Amino acid sequence: MRRILVIGAAGQIGSELVPFLRNKYGNGNVIATGRKTPLPDVIKNSGPVIYLDALEKNRLSEVLYEYEIDTIYHMASILSATGEKIPQTAWDININGLINVLEVGRSYKVDKIIWPSSIAAFGPTTPRENTPNITVLQPTTMYGITKVAGELLAEYYYKKYDLDVRSMRLPGIISSETLPGGGTTDYAVEIFYEAIKNNKYTCFLREDTVLPMMYQPDCLKCMVDLLEADNSKLKRRVYNITGMSFSAGEIAAEIKKHIPDFEIDYKPDFRQEIADSWPKSIDDSLAREEWGWNPTYDLSSMTKDMIEILSKRLIK
Ligand code: SER
Repeated sequence: MRRILVIGAAGQIGSELVPFLRNKYGNGNVIATGRKTPLPDVIKNSGPVIYLDALEKNRLSEVLYEYEIDTIYHMASILSATGEKIPQTAWDININGLINVLEVGRSYKVDKIIWPSSIAAFGPTTPRENTPNITVLQPTTMYGITKVAGELLAEYYYKKYDLDVRSMRLPGIISSETLPGGGTTDYAVEIFYEAIKNNKYTCFLREDTVLPMMYQPDCLKCMVDLLEADNSKLKRRVYNITGMSFSAGEIAAEIKKHIPDFEIDYKPDFRQEIADSWPKSIDDSLAREEWGWNPTYDLSSMTKDMIEILSKRLIK
């Protein structure tokens, strides 16, 4: 059985990844760590939980030793929009955190490290439709810069130290449990909360802004599928993946099918420029070929599921 450390367990993905992994690998084998945000009760009550700042390398090292960790999910990161407000901190947390994880992973000879990259690794010079796995990587956000540097580090540590680091370029993740924070794709989650609570949403992106997205159940699936993929089939460390692509107008129209009174207006802010620098759609054929990536949800099934889950929770 694996002994897994999840760094960043309070985040949008981490908070659902921990229960998902505990279910698969055993409650006691998945150690959840947080730093700033308190961990949800479901995580605190179902298995080991510790305080950990990935910037404290010695502490990270102690944790690996004490808990006999062989697998790390490094999910802690400052996202694109917040990163533009505090670029130096974004660099510090995203890159120095990652290099600490890679270094202690190397010393303790961990079996695998999963570290997500992002569609933010792409930039305005990248082809925007059906963006290939191997393409131009010239991002214009600090978040994107840290993702490109991280991708190169993943390849470097694999080649030089035989450290099995694996990464997927996540699109915007839509989830019902924990709100994302500080990203450009966050609108696609907020819109559901506002539609259900107030029948109204003001979107910070233009109506025709198309971005690649994925529903959380598919995201959790890809986290485990890539971890468990047969290394002899993997020809690279970093994979494009996607679930669906839609514009802000299209998701609003889909929500209207369930909530006919729903109204949306558009007030683009600084995040529009970030969105405009990212792809509209992603070619994930290499992930499909090399490790069987195959998402389940499209815009209509995701919307239906989100509205069902959130309505139960938000309307009392
Ligand atoms: N969801 C992220 C963001 O918007 C993209 O990786 O910053």
